[in-house]
Amino acid sequence: MEPLTLNSQTQALFSAALQAKLDAKVAKYETRRASILEVLHLIMEEKGHIALEDEKNVAQYLSIPPIDVREVMTFYTLYYDKPKAKTRFNVCRTLACHLTGGDELLKYLEEKLGIHEGQMSKDGKCSLKTVECLGACEIAPMMQINDHEYAGNLTKEKIDELLKRVKCEA
Ligand code: FES
Repeated sequence: MEPLTLNSQTQALFSAALQAKLDAKVAKYETRRASILEVLHLIMEEKGHIALEDEKNVAQYLSIPPIDVREVMTFYTLYYDKPKAKTRFNVCRTLACHLTGGDELLKYLEEKLGIHEGQMSKDGKCSLKTVECLGACEIAPMMQINDHEYAGNLTKEKIDELLKRVKCEA
């Protein structure tokens, strides 16, 4: 088992309050690496997003290569490396959604929001990105709105209603 002792270099990576929370969380795991999801979650909670500098700090803190943190950051949709928009559209791009018209709906959303995939509106209200299968293939084509809402069997009409509800139109 890896030791959970911290070296003195790690003390300055985060604020004292955050550091205390992280240390408590990491101590519950057999290996430092195993705590990565929870560590990232705590940083998101405190800062709203995880900047590149924080990714590097997490790698140093957990004694793992920075690429390992990047892989986790890009795999899970709940981690943001930039400040989050108020409303975030995560459109599934995997097979079932792709075959049922997901690409066309993505283009439609780009037109309606006035932004491209991977962007956030200038006023910070909305952002749009594509993600891998969200495990809701039975309601393809689908997208996730913020972290918890799924909208499925999407059509242009449904998207219109949704955008009106969340007040996200260009
Ligand atoms: S393929 Fe889109 S949710 Fe599974």
